[in-house]
Amino acid sequence: MVVEKNVPLQSYNTFGIIARAHNLVRIADEAAAREVVADAMWRGMPKFVLGGGSNIVLTGDVKPLVLKVEILGRTLIETQPRAWIVEAGAGENWADFVRWTLEQDLPGLENLALIPGTVGASPVQNIGAYGVELQDRFESLDALDLNTGRSFTLNAAQCAFGYRDSVFKHPPALAGQEDSLQQGFGLEGRALITRVRFRLPRPWKPVLGYLDLERKMRETGVADPGAQQIHDWICAIRSAKLPDPRVIGNAGSFFKNPTVTPEQCADIIAREPRIVHYPMPDGSIKLAAGWLIDACGWKGKTVGNAGVYEKQALVLVNRGGATPATGGEVMTLAGAIQTSVYERFGIRLEPEPVVI
Ligand code: EPU
Repeated sequence: MVVEKNVPLQSYNTFGIIARAHNLVRIADEAAAREVVADAMWRGMPKFVLGGGSNIVLTGDVKPLVLKVEILGRTLIETQPRAWIVEAGAGENWADFVRWTLEQDLPGLENLALIPGTVGASPVQNIGAYGVELQDRFESLDALDLNTGRSFTLNAAQCAFGYRDSVFKHPPALAGQEDSLQQGFGLEGRALITRVRFRLPRPWKPVLGYLDLERKMRETGVADPGAQQIHDWICAIRSAKLPDPRVIGNAGSFFKNPTVTPEQCADIIAREPRIVHYPMPDGSIKLAAGWLIDACGWKGKTVGNAGVYEKQALVLVNRGGATPATGGEVMTLAGAIQTSVYERFGIRLEPEPVVI
C-alpha cells in the first residue's frame, strides 16, 4: 500500500481550493480498500473518501487519511424484460458514464447529463436534475465498511434517499450499535462505495416535464425527442447557466432548495408575490433558493476571491485565478448569504456541499 504524503488537492476539488492531504492512498479496486482497513498503522484512524471532489469545500489541509477512489469499469450486467441493469465503478466520471450508456443504447440517465463528480458520489447526495433523481434509476451499490473491512450491498430503501440526501450523509450509530449497519443508521465517514448499479426502465420513456426542456421543444419544433437529443439539450441548458468547473471553480448548487409549509409559503407570498415556489407531492412547498439569493441582491457579488455566479445565484464560484479563494472565504460568503436570506424571508438555507 503506497501512502503519498502532502498531496496537493487543488486539482481534486472542483472549487479549485488550495489544500493538501497529509496522507493519501489511491484505491483502484476493492482489494486496495481492504488493505487500507487491515493496515496496522491506519486501522482505526480517521479516513476521508474523496470522489470527484465536486461537492466539497476544503477549509484547510485534510488530516484524515484521504482515500482517493479510482475504481473503474462500466458493464451491462443484465437485460431484464422491464429494465437494463448497468454497473459502474465508483471512480468513473459521472458525465462520461452517462454518455457511454447512451452510446450503448441504454437510455435513462440523459436528464442527469453533465453533472460533475464521480459515479461513487452520485448516491451520496442523490444527484438530481431536470425531473430525474438518482433514486429513480438506482438498483443497488457495493461498499466497504471502513471500520470492519466487510463488504456489503445496499438497495434503494437501505440508502434512505431524500432530496440531496442519503444514509451516507448522516452520522453513524452510537458505540455499541455498530452491528446495525444494515438497519438504516447513518454511514457518514464509514462507507467506501465501490460499485453502483443502475436500473434503466424498459421501454424507455422520456422525462420532459421541466420548463427548460419544454422551451427547447418549442424552440426546435421537436415534439418527441430521443434520449440522445434530451442529453444534448440538457448539456446546452446546463452550460448556458452553470459555470464549467474546469474554467471557473464551483461545486454546483451551493444551497438546497428549502421546503416550507403551505401556511409559511402563503405568508411569504403575501409579502413577496413574485417568489418562485413549487408544490411537492407530500404537500410541502419547495422554494427556489436561487431566487431568494437573487432577490437579496447577491448575484455577481464577491467576498475576497469567492463570488456569486452572475447567471445563477445558487452557485458560488472561485474567482481567484492565480490566487484562488480559500475555503474560509467561500464559507464567509455562504454565511453572509444565509444571514441576509434569513433576515429578509425568515428562511434558513442549508448548504449542499460537505464542508471539510
Ligand atoms: N432563479 C432566479 N435567480 C437565480 C437562480 C434561479 O430567479 O439566480 C429562479 C429561476 O428563474 C427558476 C428557479 O429559480 O425559476 C429555479 O432555478 P433552476 O430551474 O435553475 O433550478 P434550481 O432550483 O436553481 C435545481 C438543482 C440543480 C439542477 C436544476 C435543474 C438544487 C439545489 N439544484 O436548481 O442541481 O441542475 O434544479 O433541475 O436542487 C446541483 O445540485 O448542483 C445542481 C446544479
